[in-house]
Amino acid sequence: MTTREQIERRRTFAIISHPDAGKTTLTEKLLLYGGAIQSAGTVKGKASDKHAVSDWMDLEKQRGISITSSVMQFEYEGFCINILDTPGHQDFSEDTYRTLMAADSAVMVIDAAKGIEPQTRKLFKVCAMRGIPIFTFINKMDREARDPFDLLDELEKEFGIGTYPMNWPIGCGQDFKGVYDRNKKCILAFDEFHAGRRKIESIDCGLDDIEKLDSLIGERQRVELCEQVELLDGASFDFDIDKVSAGKLSPVFFGSALNNFGVEAFLEYFIHMTSAPLSHMTESKEISPFDDTFSAFVFKIQANMNKMHRDRIAFMRICSGKFERNKEYFHVQQGKSIKLAQPQQLMAQEREIIDEAYAGDIIGVFDPGIFSIGDTICESSNKITYGGIPTFAPEHFAEIEQIDSMKRKQFQKGMEQIAQEGAIQIFFMPGCGMERVIVGVVGVLQYEVLEHRMKTEYGVSYRQTPQRFQLIRFIGEGSGNPQELRLSRDTMWVQDVKGNDLLIFESEFDRRWALENNKELKLYEFNKS
Ligand code: G4P
Repeated sequence: MTTREQIERRRTFAIISHPDAGKTTLTEKLLLYGGAIQSAGTVKGKASDKHAVSDWMDLEKQRGISITSSVMQFEYEGFCINILDTPGHQDFSEDTYRTLMAADSAVMVIDAAKGIEPQTRKLFKVCAMRGIPIFTFINKMDREARDPFDLLDELEKEFGIGTYPMNWPIGCGQDFKGVYDRNKKCILAFDEFHAGRRKIESIDCGLDDIEKLDSLIGERQRVELCEQVELLDGASFDFDIDKVSAGKLSPVFFGSALNNFGVEAFLEYFIHMTSAPLSHMTESKEISPFDDTFSAFVFKIQANMNKMHRDRIAFMRICSGKFERNKEYFHVQQGKSIKLAQPQQLMAQEREIIDEAYAGDIIGVFDPGIFSIGDTICESSNKITYGGIPTFAPEHFAEIEQIDSMKRKQFQKGMEQIAQEGAIQIFFMPGCGMERVIVGVVGVLQYEVLEHRMKTEYGVSYRQTPQRFQLIRFIGEGSGNPQELRLSRDTMWVQDVKGNDLLIFESEFDRRWALENNKELKLYEFNKS
């Protein structure tokens, strides 16, 4: 197969959802189709015997949640599919956001009884920012669900996108009879005992075949289905693949991941409708995935993935060309040539050394501490630099104070390394040195991860005092000496590792107070690339 053919058959996407909507269950069913796992229950177990494929850290295992994002690859009907798993717990870190930077499309799983939930909202925003295609899987139709029209309406109103139901549910809960495929004009009949891998044969049946429909779903539901589909045909958006590609129209599928219902039908449509690897922007131009030379960027760094190998892995998204093991590449930020001798593709705790990979793929490489998030790796004959990965504003802050002066070095090293991985952000209080810092995180679970890792990896304990700050802003140039700013009691001036000045506020009121009382003060949003 040529490099071009290899790239064209790649599909790299992330599954996003609010916890408990069914992301793990759907992932697991997709992996089953791809033959990547042999039995259900291997992707995740809740705090018990089964462990998530992505459960790497002890802490994750203890709590039965998956904190870190992993990558799973499988083959399906000639396509090479990379699923980027995003953390399922309601507390998440920047990793989740960054993972979306490496995806070419997203699948949003929604609980049919609940509709859009807070985490769905946050994750959707990031997808929308990137303009990638977003597919919607409305899950748990085997349970009582909200009216499907209501659900679509909510998606359209809240997210400002169009929706296009590819199939339409026939009832829900006890009454769930399956889905009607609008495109193929056939019925996929639900059978609650269908939890295995067996393919569900669709039954050709136009809506005008009353007799057949009545025998399949009964008269009452047939009348209801016909009315609803008629309404849908008249009122819904037209299907437009360009709008799908631009993330403006979301194809919607109804199903039940737990019962393995509607998953295969979803996958079939999805692989043909979603994007092959997308182009990526460097600082000056767009690089096509089909560009002859290899290039990639680091979107995630993960330490201590496996106790057996105490190491750090940098995950790279290949943006163009073909990667070859042992070939010499160029690490732009360090300005050095490097050889990636042990590139890996990961599946749970199993790692497979690979010899080649293509644009669209994600590889993990051993990181002796040289990589940072956003770094570019490319061929030295064609040096480029990919635009950075946005840093997201921390939403929680705590003061962390070193308590054992004998372990000062370990404390510093641990905090710096973990911050470099992007799991936490460190802020200094001018004049306080490194012994007392403010640590900002996107999700509070990161504090537990930090404490656990500082103890197990660096042998350090510390005192942590939660702070009530909620907002953070950069102080712009020309704002005067930060020391002389008039600030409310609930505002603090801090500096980041690069020496930038920032203010953190307890509330919006404090931010306004600072602006009103300091005429020269300019504040900038934290999200930046
Ligand atoms: P998440 O990754 O989005 O957090 O969700 P997950 O797949 O873990 O699913 C959350 C719960 O919802 C699980 O039940 C799962 O079995 C259930 N579930 C997922 N899809 C469906 C579906 O289509 N129909 C129904 N009825 N349930 C579904 P749990 O009891 O919390 O966990 P478990 O003990 O079954 O693992």
